[in-house]
Amino acid sequence: MNTDLQIDSSGQLRHLITLDGLGRDRITALLDRAVALRDAFANGAQGPRLLAGRTIINLFFETSTRTRTSFELAARRLGADVVNFDIANSSTSKGESLEDTLATLEAMQADAFIVRHKENGTPARLAATARGAAILNAGDGNHAHPTQGLLDALTIRDHYPDFSGLKVTICGDIRHSRVARSDLHVLRALGVADIRLCGPASLMPASDEFPQCRAFDNLDDAIAGADVVIMLRLQRERMLEALVGDETAYFARFGLNRQRLQRAMTGALVMHPGPMNRGVEIAGDVADGPQSVILDQVANGIPMRMAVLAELLQH
Ligand code: CP
Repeated sequence: MNTDLQIDSSGQLRHLITLDGLGRDRITALLDRAVALRDAFANGAQGPRLLAGRTIINLFFETSTRTRTSFELAARRLGADVVNFDIANSSTSKGESLEDTLATLEAMQADAFIVRHKENGTPARLAATARGAAILNAGDGNHAHPTQGLLDALTIRDHYPDFSGLKVTICGDIRHSRVARSDLHVLRALGVADIRLCGPASLMPASDEFPQCRAFDNLDDAIAGADVVIMLRLQRERMLEALVGDETAYFARFGLNRQRLQRAMTGALVMHPGPMNRGVEIAGDVADGPQSVILDQVANGIPMRMAVLAELLQH
């Protein structure tokens, strides 16, 4: 997608649909803003009510634990009103189009919509028809999950301020992963040169989609010397057919266990966007172990989403 849709002629971010093409300076400014907000709200402090008087609507057509809850907490802590739109009981079930639903809710003076949908391109489609409200992509198909990419970058930066020498391994169902795509966009923008993609051939992206990354078909090789290891779950809900059979065999070859983690750099970060399937892509003791920053990723979701909301709505 070109970035014209999300950046206006004065250079202001109007929507957040993808990290592709956002650029290092804009991404760094968003990460810096997240850190400032994290500090302002630390230890239960009452931080700035930057979004007082604003109305934000969660439009989740797919399930979510982390993204929906952290967007809601971020918006409320900044003083906004939040509506969790009840899609199952809405008039979309009577055939109302998404565009008409958006226009209807905009007429109630909504300022922003957080959109998750199984179809690639739905947030961009809504951004193209919005009459002033901001659209934030909370995950569309296997296309993009930009705030997850940003919070992952923030979590890595908390440990490694300089991205340029990092070796990052992403392992699992990359083909169906919007997180992998947004992570790749943000890591490349911040200067990571050594990115390894690992998974069975059936779950790897097309060979020309990420020509700058190295592809591996076993985790023992992909993880050697890595500073950051990002594990992804099997996204069976997006597979048109069963692309992976036996989960025990999958774990033996592609699962992250303690022994395999020792092949990475000492103290390498273990990451997972969630939801996790313990014993399928990651061992429980690694997920809960000293190198895991999985719950730090969750915690960083709130200030990161505060920063994005403030950026889009404070003008
Ligand atoms: N990482 C992520 O998007 O999690 P949820 O599906 O729970 O929002």
